[in-house]
Amino acid sequence: PIDANWLDLMFQKGVMKYIDAVGIHGFPGVFDANWEGWEENLNKIKQVFSNHKCKSEIWITEAGFSTWQYDERRQLEEYLKLTSLNVGRFYWYGLKDLDPSMATVDGFHLDEREYHFGMKHSNGNPKMIYRMLEMEPIEKIKEKTWMFQNTNQDTDEKYTLITGGSGFIGTNVAQHYLLLGKPVMIFDNLSKPGVEQNLQWLIEKYGKDVKIEIADIRNEFAVKKAVGNAEQIFHFAAQVALTTSIIDPKNDFDINAMGTLNILNAMTKQQTPPSLVFTSSNKVYGQMEDLDLEVSGSKYLPSDGELNKYGISENRKLEFHSPYGCSKGTADQYVLDFARTFALPATAFRLSCVYGPHQYGTEDQGWVAHFMLNALNGKPLNIYGDGKQVRDLLYVEDLVEAFILAQANISNIAGQPFNIGGGPENALSLINVLEMISKASKKEIDVKYSPWRERDQKYYVSDIRKFELATGWLPKTGVATGLEKLYNWLKNIKEPNLKPSTIKENF
Ligand SMILES: NC(=O)c1ccc[n+]([C@@H]2O[C@H](COP(=O)([O-])OP(=O)(O)OC[C@H]3O[C@@H](n4cnc5c(N)ncnc54)[C@H](O)[C@@H]3O)[C@@H](O)[C@H]2O)c1
Repeated sequence: PIDANWLDLMFQKGVMKYIDAVGIHGFPGVFDANWEGWEENLNKIKQVFSNHKCKSEIWITEAGFSTWQYDERRQLEEYLKLTSLNVGRFYWYGLKDLDPSMATVDGFHLDEREYHFGMKHSNGNPKMIYRMLEMEPIEKIKEKTWMFQNTNQDTDEKYTLITGGSGFIGTNVAQHYLLLGKPVMIFDNLSKPGVEQNLQWLIEKYGKDVKIEIADIRNEFAVKKAVGNAEQIFHFAAQVALTTSIIDPKNDFDINAMGTLNILNAMTKQQTPPSLVFTSSNKVYGQMEDLDLEVSGSKYLPSDGELNKYGISENRKLEFHSPYGCSKGTADQYVLDFARTFALPATAFRLSCVYGPHQYGTEDQGWVAHFMLNALNGKPLNIYGDGKQVRDLLYVEDLVEAFILAQANISNIAGQPFNIGGGPENALSLINVLEMISKASKKEIDVKYSPWRERDQKYYVSDIRKFELATGWLPKTGVATGLEKLYNWLKNIKEPNLKPSTIKENF
């Protein structure tokens, strides 16, 4: 600990003449409730050194920040502060979170905070600090001052709240309002690699109308604060991939189901609750193994003529497959029920496959952008199954239009779910999409086929008539045009580090 009196005593006792470096430690904001700051604490030590004309070094032998309340931004901030101090060296505690099943002290789970000091989660997933350090030099990270300043919300200014607002869909929605000169509040924990580039882009382009809260949807206090001044909400923040939901179902549930409940609870506390559009998923309908499908050319199509013509409607029975399906489905049902029980102006969009600019797609989620990126970089592509599976593709600008219409018509559509996608007009098999990508990017794509992934739907096309009837909406952008636009965006971006971690771990 930092104890100037004790250090002084060591000088008086003559111990210090054998000491080359004095180590101090501190855990700002975690165990040190009355933390005065590193500078203040170092000055106390330096003063004693100076009194005794001591030239030994000062080291910080333990410092860290626990993300037990999901505040990964603050962890990075505390780390950066250390790099600016004039000390011999510092030791950061630690690289990886403790295994939750492991006891820390005498067989007791003594303090939850002790488990979350790592730069990575216990399952190995990198936290924000790890990803940022891996991507850029420290000085470059420090230049991103926007990342460390949450917008002061102690005003009455109203805004459109977009959770997950740095993500693909969020950035496109934000841009729509910012172009109209309307303020938006981006609430995002920047956990998705690449999305910090979206946020930086929004800030550089639209300046002070972009309000930011780098926070986690699981943090109900932060959510409550953000909802307080919202006049309307788009709730996109989510654990978005089915694959990762299987690896860590609890994390998936906490973010998708509990996170949504946090938003809904905060809404009920408002005298005039803001309106809400939530993005659910077609996965709430499960694998749909009962569909009678036949192969027609390079795609699966339903044998039922009506289904073939219109796609899957909201009348389809819900069947939550996979943890992701369960957590999104739970959130979907909570949104609709809160509209019923608490008369909240809220609706759920069951999205199929959306694509377009600002999508940092990976194999796990955002496959259209992922395909295109691989094509651009001449990398081989892996297709699970036979490539004949069919999806309806929706260009993101068309989705933004649907969102605006939903907010405008919320009193008529509250409590109802809508299947939203490109519809039968924009339904293609993966093989078809690959051909079109190859054309748009003017590149041959090297494709490899792997066995089917568990729970993949062979056919999903949204029946969009219900929303069309309610609002007059129909998608306008054909897939060829949309892919062309995606291509033009992708070829100009700096590819984020979407590959597995590379920081050396010699521990
Ligand atoms: N893109 C699609 O095709 C599609 C399809 C179906 C459903 N959806 C849903 O639409 C929404 C937006 O999708 P997207 O494609 O823009 O995804 P995205 O991954 O680009 O955006 C999600 C954003 O949420 C943020 N986030 C993740 N966990 C968070 C947390 N705990 N707290 C705060 N922020 C967090 C991420 O940093 C990211 O910026 C998601 O809810 C997704 O499930 C998307």
